[in-house]
Amino acid sequence: MSASSQKNTSSAWKALTSLAKSTAEDSIQDYFSSDPMRLEHYSIDLPGLYLDFSKNRINNDVFKALINLAQLSSLEGKRASMFHGDPINITERQPALHTALRDQESKVEINGVPVVNQITRQLLKMRNCSDAIRSGTWTGNTGEPITDVVNIGIGGSDLGPKMVCEALDEFGETGLNIHFISNVDGSEISKLLATLNAETTLFIVCSKSFTTQETLLNTNAAVSWLQRNLDIDSPQGSSHFIAITAAPQAAIKFGVDPANILEFWNWVGGRYSLWSAIGLSISVAIGHDNFEKLLEGAKAMDDHFLSAPLDKSMPVVLALTGIWYNNFLGAESIAIVPYCERLGLFPAYLQQLDMESNGKSTTLSGLAVRNTTAPVVWGQTGTNGQHAFFQLLHQGTRLIPIDFVAIVKENRGDPFQHKVLLASMVAQAAALVKGEVSDKAHQHYSGNKPSNTLLLDELNPHCLGMLIALYEHKVFVQGVIWDINSFDQWGVELGKRLTTLLLTDESGNDLDPSTRDLMRRSGLRD
Ligand code: F6P
Repeated sequence: MSASSQKNTSSAWKALTSLAKSTAEDSIQDYFSSDPMRLEHYSIDLPGLYLDFSKNRINNDVFKALINLAQLSSLEGKRASMFHGDPINITERQPALHTALRDQESKVEINGVPVVNQITRQLLKMRNCSDAIRSGTWTGNTGEPITDVVNIGIGGSDLGPKMVCEALDEFGETGLNIHFISNVDGSEISKLLATLNAETTLFIVCSKSFTTQETLLNTNAAVSWLQRNLDIDSPQGSSHFIAITAAPQAAIKFGVDPANILEFWNWVGGRYSLWSAIGLSISVAIGHDNFEKLLEGAKAMDDHFLSAPLDKSMPVVLALTGIWYNNFLGAESIAIVPYCERLGLFPAYLQQLDMESNGKSTTLSGLAVRNTTAPVVWGQTGTNGQHAFFQLLHQGTRLIPIDFVAIVKENRGDPFQHKVLLASMVAQAAALVKGEVSDKAHQHYSGNKPSNTLLLDELNPHCLGMLIALYEHKVFVQGVIWDINSFDQWGVELGKRLTTLLLTDESGNDLDPSTRDLMRRSGLRD
């Protein structure tokens, strides 16, 4: 934390540290019995999305002190800077403008040029591509309509679109198959290609930088496969390839037809890019009108974040509950447990969003942080998780706050099964708080385990857009409080560089004995 920021917020950090001590023995159950209005005060009900944060080890004094910390951290000013397009990603001298991507009336300008014009142009290009692919007018080299779309990308160029396509698969009625390839493990793409017909397959290469090793190698594998199966020299320049990138020149150099390149911009962070042309696979899967509903849902959350008072702001409240456990009660991780199989990728998506954004140890002024930053984010769907890690949540020794997520109105499956699903989640959250006394130690549940519960009215594009934007802003708020840059990711570079050195054998002898031995054993070096 920088010296000035530390000075501004130190009274709030101190107050919270002392509250952590004085409330250490408090119980959530007592908070409920002593305050009949607790649920009303500790919940936020927005059209489409409801947050209950009453099952936290947070009383009114703690809550006020947390809000005070947010205020003293200049949250409101920094929020305005982000939406305004100030270069808040200071190490890359870039704004972080994912919010402009979902605001058709954005007034933001970069170097005097309104961003809305370029955004609208790319959205239109997306719509045209998506409509053509879905209607069958986008054909392959032999004139056949597309049956299979393969998104090649990794990290933000994969996880967001993949998670959304899986969550909203109910909205994809065209019979088109959408696949995602990310890992440099060549068995992933070769297994998929073995099932596809080259004449009817379209590859969407997603890479902001167009330099990412995994993506380029998988793209080369796709090019070779098309060459072999379609007998054409440069399939990357054919209608079997679309590239989506912030480096269009690199895609052109690779041979992609400029007409088949969709652009986004350096001011969109990779892990915030599903709202840009990177979302083309979503648009193809569920139709562009539905993609726009996803954007509208995110915009509704943006508007809420901008306008609600801090103590009624969902992203702020979610962030502050996390700060409380992470920085004052010693929690090291947070579990995300969606009670919805279609949200199975949501924990992995949040892992990248949260840990790549806030896994930092340097403040905005380049000093070492004084406070712990991002927790480990993990989780999986309920009820599966109940039969795996819930034992630890109920009786383990660690404090692990949980975010439960569920869908109220389910259109698919047996309604009774959905009832059981919801009852399971509500029961788990209640049991974690309630606990149970037993004279047999192994049957004793200490209870008082905190959680938030998020209820989406339906798993539709609008509600999902709200949910994703909620977590984006939660991560932003926490980054502001920790005084770090949430929008760079320098920590991933060293490993990438070393891989290249090992592969080109230019690492010399500057390696530890374990690494040299592993290289020899794995055949990387004689
Ligand atoms: O993991 C690092 C990272 O740069 C992510 O931030 C990004 O989403 C991913 O790699 C892929 O990068 P690109 O879109 O440039 O291929």
